[in-house]
Amino acid sequence: MAKEVNVGLIGTGFMNVAHSFGFRNCWPVWGGECKPVMKCIVSRKEETAQKAALEQGWEEYSTEWREMVKRDDIDLVDICTPNFCHVENVQETAKAGKDILCEKPMANDLAGARAMLEAVEKAGVKAMCGFTYRQVPAIRLAREMISSGELGEIRHFRAAYLQDFIMEPDFPLIWRLEKEYAGSGALGDIGAHITDIARFLIGDIESVSGTLETFIKERPKEQPQGGTKLKDTAGGSEYGKVTVDDAAIWCGRFADGPIGTFEATRFAGGRKNHNGFEINGAKGSIAWNFEDMNYLDYWKEGEGARQGFRKVLATNEETPGFENWWPDGHIIGYGECFVNQMKEMMDAIAEDRDPEPGFEDGVKCQQVLEAVTKSHEEKCWIDVQDV
Ligand SMILES: NC(=O)c1ccc[n+]([C@@H]2O[C@H](COP(=O)([O-])OP(=O)(O)OC[C@H]3O[C@@H](n4cnc5c(N)ncnc54)[C@H](O)[C@@H]3O)[C@@H](O)[C@H]2O)c1
Repeated sequence: MAKEVNVGLIGTGFMNVAHSFGFRNCWPVWGGECKPVMKCIVSRKEETAQKAALEQGWEEYSTEWREMVKRDDIDLVDICTPNFCHVENVQETAKAGKDILCEKPMANDLAGARAMLEAVEKAGVKAMCGFTYRQVPAIRLAREMISSGELGEIRHFRAAYLQDFIMEPDFPLIWRLEKEYAGSGALGDIGAHITDIARFLIGDIESVSGTLETFIKERPKEQPQGGTKLKDTAGGSEYGKVTVDDAAIWCGRFADGPIGTFEATRFAGGRKNHNGFEINGAKGSIAWNFEDMNYLDYWKEGEGARQGFRKVLATNEETPGFENWWPDGHIIGYGECFVNQMKEMMDAIAEDRDPEPGFEDGVKCQQVLEAVTKSHEEKCWIDVQDV
């Protein structure tokens, strides 16, 4: 009989839908000693909370997150709020002694992320940071290939996370476009993901040199229309300043020797969620892109006239993260990454260990983002450990 873990989720936007999908499907797919129970969802507005509970399958709803995290029947709090809320959400939850899953980036800045880590360490609770792409089976396979030495010594990491959803100048000034709420723009929103993928696959980033750009300086202030999708928002007639980057580009040196390039932009016309990387080692190369997430492109040395990139379909029962999914070759998608994420959280609770990635990973990622910002401001290379 599995132990029930009662979950409370804060936020009713995009990530509520993805995380609810994860919790609903986690136990049916993976089983395990711990089984999530979708106990209570929280939104500031009662109507929104009620609608989300009904649509996503939460037993109860509330408008008071501070009360929810203190409830005796809540074991795990899932934080799906905008970045600026994370520090307070985490501090209160840790104080109440509950385990935590918090979305990325950890916070608006490094000081906030460090305060969150301190809060969970002091409280002795488990805490996971929502770097969902670590859960993609093809990425987990890539990690195995790198750590087993199959690719030889790694020389290059080359990543670009490309979207285009804010290209229209009249796209409204949503929270993601204001520093006060988001901390940074493309850098923290999607650059955080490629930074974490780089750390997951290659290791710590030692120094960076980067630049940021904001192409559209003012936008119509947001008039929310309800709903969880970007199309559910519209701009009014009043304008406000965009205070974050639209695009970020940086290069970095990894502690173990490889060098890397990183690009994060929401102005790459035609690219929707093109989160990709290529890694070149002495004996082989691999490449991956989320829009074709089940495949890993793989080139290996020594194949003479037969050489070339082959497409490895990373959906076998031997593929890490795919073991309990469908029969071989029956591919998976975005939602399944969240199912795998919730499995990791449940396993960590069952095994009484820290989930992976933890808040320390979240802080290290934030340190890189802060170093990139500093590099842009000071127009020079920055040692990550100095920020
Ligand atoms: N892991 C991933 O791949 C991934 C993907 C998207 C977003 N995220 C992260 O998830 C978090 C939420 O993003 P989202 O896409 O769901 O955003 P969203 O805009 O769709 O939803 C945000 C939610 O927070 C609520 N909210 C807004 N302001 C608030 C406030 N002041 N106090 C309390 N609640 C408030 C909104 O009503 C909404 O319910 C962010 O930290 C984001 O970076 C992660």
